[in-house]
Amino acid sequence: MCGIIGYIGDKKTIPILINGLQKLEYRGYDSAGVCISNNGDLKTIKKKGKLQKLVDTIATQDIDGPIGIAHTRWATHGEPNEKNAHPHLDCKGEIAIVHNGIIENYSSLKKLLEKHGHKIESDTDSEIIAHLVEKFYKDDLESAVREALQLVDGAFGLAVIHKNEKKIIAARRGSPLIIGIGKNEMFVASDVPAILEHTKKVIYLNDNEMATISQGGYEIKNLEGKRVAEKVEEIKWTIDQIEKKGFKHFMLKEIFEQPEAISNTLRGRIKEDRIKLSVNFDVKDISRVLITACGTSWHSGLIGKYILESIAQIPTEVDYASEFRYRKPLIKSDDLLVAISQSGETADTLAALREAKEQNAKTLGIVNVVGSTITREVESGIYLHVGPEIGVASTKAFTSQVVSLILLALHIRQEKGLKVDKKIIKELFRLPKKIAEALKSAEDIKKIADKFKDSKNFLYLGRGVNFPVALEGALKLKEISYIHAEGYPAAEIKHGPIALIDEDMPVVFVVTKNNLTQKTISNMQEVKAREGRIIAIVNKGDKEIKKITDYVIMVPETVDELSPIINSIPLQLLAYYIAEAKGMDVDKPRNLAKSVTVE
Ligand code: AGP
Ligand code: GLU
Repeated sequence: MCGIIGYIGDKKTIPILINGLQKLEYRGYDSAGVCISNNGDLKTIKKKGKLQKLVDTIATQDIDGPIGIAHTRWATHGEPNEKNAHPHLDCKGEIAIVHNGIIENYSSLKKLLEKHGHKIESDTDSEIIAHLVEKFYKDDLESAVREALQLVDGAFGLAVIHKNEKKIIAARRGSPLIIGIGKNEMFVASDVPAILEHTKKVIYLNDNEMATISQGGYEIKNLEGKRVAEKVEEIKWTIDQIEKKGFKHFMLKEIFEQPEAISNTLRGRIKEDRIKLSVNFDVKDISRVLITACGTSWHSGLIGKYILESIAQIPTEVDYASEFRYRKPLIKSDDLLVAISQSGETADTLAALREAKEQNAKTLGIVNVVGSTITREVESGIYLHVGPEIGVASTKAFTSQVVSLILLALHIRQEKGLKVDKKIIKELFRLPKKIAEALKSAEDIKKIADKFKDSKNFLYLGRGVNFPVALEGALKLKEISYIHAEGYPAAEIKHGPIALIDEDMPVVFVVTKNNLTQKTISNMQEVKAREGRIIAIVNKGDKEIKKITDYVIMVPETVDELSPIINSIPLQLLAYYIAEAKGMDVDKPRNLAKSVTVE
């Protein structure tokens, strides 16, 4: 999810690169760097932290030239520090690369390269590309890049330069890349805002395509070296529209990014029905899992309890981190503490983790932000790989956390020698498609939202693994629309909340197919009998439920353990459209912060 920009032309390169990076900063911002090629010499400057640090350093130096590549990083492999920042160079310092994506087989390639005498300096997956290109380089950068990429598994958006060649080679598989066409100048970028000030004429590279750009033009080929016909497009959007990809808010963009986000979480983690997680300790010896988190991450933890107990057959407890840290929990050395946090910086979650470490538990983090404090303090981790989440209300990180918990549960099951259900694995791979299908209801959900935008209260009900989905649906609504909402296990309402139900109380039921569907339908009857208005999330073809509900939202069916991921989509959309109809500041709701670093 990083930002890439490359330039070749007769203007000053540095200001173009810096301006481009500034436009791309929303894509990643943990470190940044540039490399300039000038008269057979490469000069690289990299800085940890916000882009401004790089800008300030460049201002103190006299560097420029006709060709340059630049990068703002959103780390996936290796801490965000200067060494790991891009561009990365080969051993001789003749080739420089910037990369967006994940090289899945980087550790085997690294071993191979090291055997051949290459010295890999950084902890990134990306650097190996520079060394592979070096290995194949014989006075022709384009062929060397092509040969190198034959060995690479995974996703890349790539720009490569060689000190002696007046060109930039760009290549794409899975990570976006565009070529910008100017007068006597050419650009490569990971997204349009980076170059929009200079040209509106672009070519979107397709997967497995490569572009060779020089000052005078470009050539597009596939990765086998055959010319392909390109389509030059004219950009008509403004910069702000493009950063949000045409969506009104980052939150909506992030909701719609979920098919891609989940693919990224799964990437490289299941091969031939085997789970490939790099957990540093033997999970066979764990007797209990203790999950700790806050807010939305706590909700994914609650789903994790159901999943870990049913799939991994391991007793699991879930705690609010703020409670866990002070309640003098009894922890044993064969307990596994799982800290879930999008930001990796939440103060309470961090304190809970430290408490567990103090008592010698094993620790694992499920975190989005690479190099964040929690990732540095856990023994092992699962990165979400969903790219920066900018909307304060968490959406894509939540569904990816649930996917990560499923991977963890399957990993433990596998390591215990128990048979892994192939159906779950199949369904995991189908998730991106099914989420995309669920997103198609957006327009219908918007209409429902318009009807309920003036409600003062909402109840969200679900059972089993979908009870936490109800909690999360209610939290999303509260956070961004400021409507009071409660989530409950559906059967629990008769023990109190049913007293609230009348014709002014909308009740959202998550009632997709599982062993509790009939029981939930009975709970719906109880609400209906008291004139509550029902919005139900159901699977296709559920006619019986339709009869007793006022509004039905259809979602694709999957196995029970994975249903929270799909069922959350309409609830995110419902909260979003209600807040939007009320004119709320959706991306920055009042009183909330994206990263809660105080207790
Ligand atoms: C999510 O919509 C919330 N803004 C909030 O509950 C959040 O999940 C919580 O603060 C935990 O954050 P973390 O995942 O970064 O630790
Ligand atoms: N995987 C690469 C890294 O960790 C690229 C990350 C990015 O897309 O910014 O450096």
